[in-house]
Amino acid sequence: MTTSEAKKPSMAGSFVDSMKDGLGAVKGVFTRERDSSSSSGSRLSELKPEPATLQANNISAWFGTHQVLDRVSLEMPAGVITSLIGPSGCGKSTFLRILNRMHELVPSAQLAGEVLIDGQDIYDPELRLTQARREIGMVFQKPNPFPAMSIYDNVVAGLALTGIKVSNDERDELVETSLIRAGLWKEVRDRLRSPGGGLSGGQQQRLCIARSLAVMPRVLLMDEPCSALDPTSTRVIEETMLELVNDVTIVIVTHNMQQAQRVSQQCAFFLASQGTPGAIVEYGDTEAMFDSPIDPRTYDYVNGRFG
Ligand SMILES: Nc1ncnc2c1ncn2[C@@H]1O[C@H](COP(=O)(O)OP(=O)(O)OP(=O)(O)O)[C@@H](O)[C@H]1O
Ligand SMILES: [Mg+2]
Repeated sequence: MTTSEAKKPSMAGSFVDSMKDGLGAVKGVFTRERDSSSSSGSRLSELKPEPATLQANNISAWFGTHQVLDRVSLEMPAGVITSLIGPSGCGKSTFLRILNRMHELVPSAQLAGEVLIDGQDIYDPELRLTQARREIGMVFQKPNPFPAMSIYDNVVAGLALTGIKVSNDERDELVETSLIRAGLWKEVRDRLRSPGGGLSGGQQQRLCIARSLAVMPRVLLMDEPCSALDPTSTRVIEETMLELVNDVTIVIVTHNMQQAQRVSQQCAFFLASQGTPGAIVEYGDTEAMFDSPIDPRTYDYVNGRFG
């Protein structure tokens, strides 16, 4: 998709095509997994965590004829935590989902604009959907581990889907490393074979972070990851984010202004005023946005005057 398509709801054909591409890619992975003679797929040892820059250019989005985002451009620099703030319904989650090709899963959804990861278009038909999702991971508001699956198996659940090949030794090491990086190892190392559903909410969210990290993403998207958690679990996850950022670029949606200030170096304020589609009002250095915002609407929002 190109910026020239912005503002124009294109036919859903491109989404259908990319859905087919995605399904084809997933099917291809399973085929390869069954076919042990195949040499395709990445080996774990070839992958190393390295943060990437994500660039959104002129992103517009629709559900049916309802436009929810209008020409949003934002650079999310490598190794930086960017927070997205703004009132409910202004399109933050939609924007985040567009960053890893989840928007297209909604049948009526359309978009225009482009998303580049280190300069490469994630909607390029040459790039597999599974590859885009491996490089750009997502953690949701509600922790969603596979409840009956063991903690160990939850961590490695994404490997087969993304076509990453691992030996048994590598798998053990990956589980440990991912849980350490997610700040959960010490709490679960003695019960790796217990079900993921038996963990507390905060632990489950860190398990989901570990699962995302196991496929070595270069960007991690987090949609209100702490909104269902108590202050202590929230703190642990915030510390985890700050430790991760040298390895993975993080984009977090949050309604918690203190959280945005504690964890993010860059901040973007989204607003959809009076029925207009969501757009970025102001973005930049987090401290400056909170201390001396340029736009009076940003001032009102960060000071709790609306939203
Ligand atoms: N699946 C969908 N079908 C139709 N409309 C949708 C869908 N998902 C979101 N929308 C609409 O798109 C707009 C943006 O929603 P979105 O969830 O991106 O907002 P948000 O900023 O994340 O809000 P919140 O802070 O409440 O999570 C809203 O008007 C919402 O009603
Ligand atoms: Mg949302």
